[in-house]
Amino acid sequence: MSIFEMLKENDTALPERYKSLSEHEMVARILEIKKELGAKLFIPGHHYQKDEVIQFSDTTGDSLQLAQVSAKNTDAEYIVFCGVHFMAETADILTSKEQKVILPDMRAGCSMADMADIHQTERAWTKLQDYFGDTMIPLTYVNSTASIKSFVGKNGGATVTSSNAHRMVEWALGEKERILFLPDQHLGRNTAYDLGIPLDHMAVWDPIKDELVFEGNLEDIKIILWKGHCSVHENFTVKNIENIRKQHPEMKIIVHPECSREVVELSDDNGSTKKIIETIEAAPSGSSWAIGTEMNLVKRIINQHPDKNIVSLNPFMCPCLTMNRIDMPHLLWALESIVEGNPINIIEVEEEVSKYAIDALDRMLERA
Ligand code: 13P
Ligand code: SF4
Repeated sequence: MSIFEMLKENDTALPERYKSLSEHEMVARILEIKKELGAKLFIPGHHYQKDEVIQFSDTTGDSLQLAQVSAKNTDAEYIVFCGVHFMAETADILTSKEQKVILPDMRAGCSMADMADIHQTERAWTKLQDYFGDTMIPLTYVNSTASIKSFVGKNGGATVTSSNAHRMVEWALGEKERILFLPDQHLGRNTAYDLGIPLDHMAVWDPIKDELVFEGNLEDIKIILWKGHCSVHENFTVKNIENIRKQHPEMKIIVHPECSREVVELSDDNGSTKKIIETIEAAPSGSSWAIGTEMNLVKRIINQHPDKNIVSLNPFMCPCLTMNRIDMPHLLWALESIVEGNPINIIEVEEEVSKYAIDALDRMLERA
């Protein structure tokens, strides 16, 4: 089911009563419910969540870590996932039928995941097979719908995250001659380039025009990049890098690999949210950093390191708006619905989809 169908089916509006509660009242009630539910409740939080939510999470992590904890967690009856829709779907796929995964606000989607739908993907695969026959393996970034993961699993491929993309691309190239990489062209391009694949051996699949964009010899193509991107990370530009280099020549620049090739190329380092956090933690006191990733995380890193000079690579950067949908009132609403015995916003991936999606996730988790 797409997120739009899901929204139509669910009453997603926050009840009025949560809008008049004070922060103090909400904090007290959330803590009370956490105590009451104990081990029955588990709250994972992605690093991009805001502090008002992250303060209640039982674990925080990047996409890979959150998938790993979901796969291991067999105790919690309710997993209230503070992240976005595809992460909650992944948690549902990796947990048992009895465990319920709840997304506090159903509008917390991911614009990148929505850039590849299953019909476009099936069409693309058929057309690409006309060009390449049985020489392709599909890989999908976890930032994709469960249906895409299922398609990938059914066709022998795997999921990847920004922290294991290199390993997974290497694995996939050992399986087949070429990869269809969905849906983030930038992560695919940056990873393949690091592994020594020249840019002119990469083509782009345009799902809107249904066409392969490539000049050269088809036989040379090693990576077919789906034409998708993250609307948050595309806001980091070469101009931002030039400004930092001019104004703060001593500053090191670290960005997320969802940024464009040009931005990654000109930065000093790149990696997943986990890697960014660990790099700053390990950096010497007094060092200077410009970070190119989502703003809630950058703000948290700045607050946690008063001894370092840290700025956002783009001074006008905003948080990821969909991640930001999860706030304290929605979290409280989700928790109270559990206590009242009528849990809201349950994310349930259909059995038919889940059974292949799990293959794609398992192939990644085995190698993570
Ligand atoms: P990671 O946390 O895996 O680096 O991914 C970031 C992201 O895009 C989540 O949307
Ligand atoms: Fe999706 Fe980009 Fe937001 Fe991550 S930061 S959830 S990729 S829109």
